[in-house]
Formats: sequence, C-alpha cells, structure tokens
Amino acid sequence: MKYFANKLIAWHGKDGRQGLPWQSIRDSYAVWVSEIMLQQTQVATVLERYPRFMKRFPTVKKLAAAPLDDILAEWAGLGYYSRARNLHACAKQVMEEFGGQFPSDPLLLEQLKGIGRSTAGAIAAFAFHERAPILDANVKRILARLFGIEGAIQEKAVNDQLWLLAKKLLPKNAVDMPVYTQALMDFGATWCTSRKPVCLSDLKKCPFAKECQASLSDQVLLLPRKAVKAKSPEFDCDMLLLRHGDSVLLQKRPEKAIWGGLWSLPESAWRPKEKNSATPSEEDPIHLTTKDLFKLVLPDEKRATALKTCQPMERGPEIKHVFTHRRLWMQIWHVSSSDTVKFSSDNLKWIPLRQLGKYGLPQPIKLLLQGLSLARGDDLKN
Ligand code: ADE
Repeated sequence: MKYFANKLIAWHGKDGRQGLPWQSIRDSYAVWVSEIMLQQTQVATVLERYPRFMKRFPTVKKLAAAPLDDILAEWAGLGYYSRARNLHACAKQVMEEFGGQFPSDPLLLEQLKGIGRSTAGAIAAFAFHERAPILDANVKRILARLFGIEGAIQEKAVNDQLWLLAKKLLPKNAVDMPVYTQALMDFGATWCTSRKPVCLSDLKKCPFAKECQASLSDQVLLLPRKAVKAKSPEFDCDMLLLRHGDSVLLQKRPEKAIWGGLWSLPESAWRPKEKNSATPSEEDPIHLTTKDLFKLVLPDEKRATALKTCQPMERGPEIKHVFTHRRLWMQIWHVSSSDTVKFSSDNLKWIPLRQLGKYGLPQPIKLLLQGLSLARGDDLKN
C-alpha cells in the first residue's frame, strides 16, 4: 500500500492523541516503563500513575535496587501484578547484562523479562528510532481490515503474514518512527476500533476508506476473524437434595477443588457427558434407585440408616453451569427424609433453609435453594 505511513502520520497530526507525557521522551527507561504500564491499563489511569512511578523510581538503577515489595506497593491498583514483578526482574537484567543501558536492537529487547515482540518494537521505535514494527491487537485489526485478511489471527501463518505487512508498511525515514508508531496505536485505539469504527459512522472520514478491503467489501465488523474456540469438555454429575422439614443436608467442599471451601449439595464423581444425551424430562423413567444415589454421594457410614428414613426420590431440574475450562450438568434428585440422620464427618451438615445466607454457597446451588426457600416464604438474604 503506497504512502500508508505518510497518510497515517498526517492523520495523527490532525486527529491523533497529542501531548501524552510519554510521547516526548526518548529516555529508554522512561519509554519502557510507560509501555509496560500501558499494556493492560487505560491511558487515563496511566496519565495519573506514570508520573508518580517515575518520581519514585527515576532510573533503571534505582528500580533494580528497590525491594520488590516497594515496587508492588507502587503498582497497587494497576492490576496484572506480574508486570511489576517483571519490571523488577528486567531492571536487574539491564543492570547486570547491559551495564544499565537498554539495548536498541528489538531482538535483544525481546530477550528481557516481560518484553514481548511488539513491546520490543515499540521501545526500539520510540527510544532509538529503530525501524522496528509493532503488532499488538489493535494493529492486527487495522491490518486485517486494510488487507482483507480472512484467516483467524491466532493462526501462526496469519500472524506471520501480519508481521511481514507491519514491516513493509514502516516509514522509510527512521526519524519518523516514534510518530508513526504512536499514530498506529492511536488509530487502532480511537478510529479503527473493534465495534464502532469511524467508517461506519457519518461523522468522520477514514483516510484509508478507498483502500480498505474490509470497508470496500462491507466486512469491517467481520474482520479480524477469531479462531473458533474449542468447546470445553462437558461432565455430568448427580446431586442429592436431601430435606427434612425446613432443613437441607449440605456438604463442605474440599479447599482445593472447584468451589473450594463452599457448602454445596452432596454430589457424585463427575463423569464425561454422554454424547447426544437429551435433557431428561420429569416423565422419563428413573433408572437410578435411591440406594444407588446414596452410594454415589454419601459416605458409607449411616447410609443404610438414612435410607430407612427416606421417601423414594424424585427427579429435580438439570442445571448447567459453565466454568472457565469445563461445563457441568448437575442432575438434582429430591429426597425427603423423616429424620435428620447425623453423619460423623463434619463436612456434612443439616442446615435450616432460613440460615443459608450465613454460608458460602456456589451460585447455582444458592439459586436453587433460594427457589425452595421462596416457596416456603423464608428470606434467605441474611
Ligand atoms: N498502549 C501501548 N503503548 C501505548 C502508547 N504509547 N500510547 C497509547 N497507548 C498505548
């Protein structure tokens, strides 16, 4: 694409973000701190916190010599604390391996703790006028749209293609690198945005409207494409909702398990969900007996005693819960008992519905029991 860099720089002069405190610096330490802080933090927050950080740790030498706890304390509220730990480790590396001077070569910068390929490019461009490309998520979006790249950007081949394009588009003159790099960042952050790009509004005119393949083919919101995420594995389990009057039997979950330390219904081991199994309905025949169920979910002792006090079980709802890396289908089984059988393990406890508010419960179980409680007219909130 001809004149891309020139047009982008011209755009920045008119519509880019001006006067940000890290834009006018060339000190590599200051550039590095600003880039790390800007990685996952809003510009408005960085505007407030960056000067404070630089005052507290004005040089890489001072940062390297500071106790990690002081750096973490100064980082408080910015989130993603591994950045602060990496800052400390990187500062030490610069002192020990590079005599206190950040290298200008992006390949060397990339060797340092916490500096990825794109951040290495940004530091090299801002601090040393190196003709090094950047390729963060915003730049990927700009390029995928401009060149109509259809492949998913997570794919290695597509990513490689984007890096090549990012390199080809660099301005000829190294002296233009800082403004060009900032312009690219600003254009992605403010104009060629993910959901409200200016080309779809009537108010502003994108300087690349005539060349942008996505715009010409009406695909702006469809690019860049993301890889379809593999679905997380699904599991089934049975859960016992054993009630006596207004009390339910709850079990404290092991600390290290999912929902660690919370009070939940006694449950069976999870088993991989059978493929194509339809959601059961109330009329479906029940293949499990109460005895089988107790075997799956209760400890051996008192199981037989408990069984004697119980009515036959009834199928309750099947509740789906989505965790980060797995999906669980919980089949609830209602059982009424004429007694509160005492179990000796102290992780099993009869709890009156109206006292449930005092216990930490997994959200779906809380909602289920709140439903029961509402039917009884209890107030669970306290
Ligand atoms: N995000 C990362 N680096 C940035 C910069 N230099 N300006 C604005 N946002 C950024």
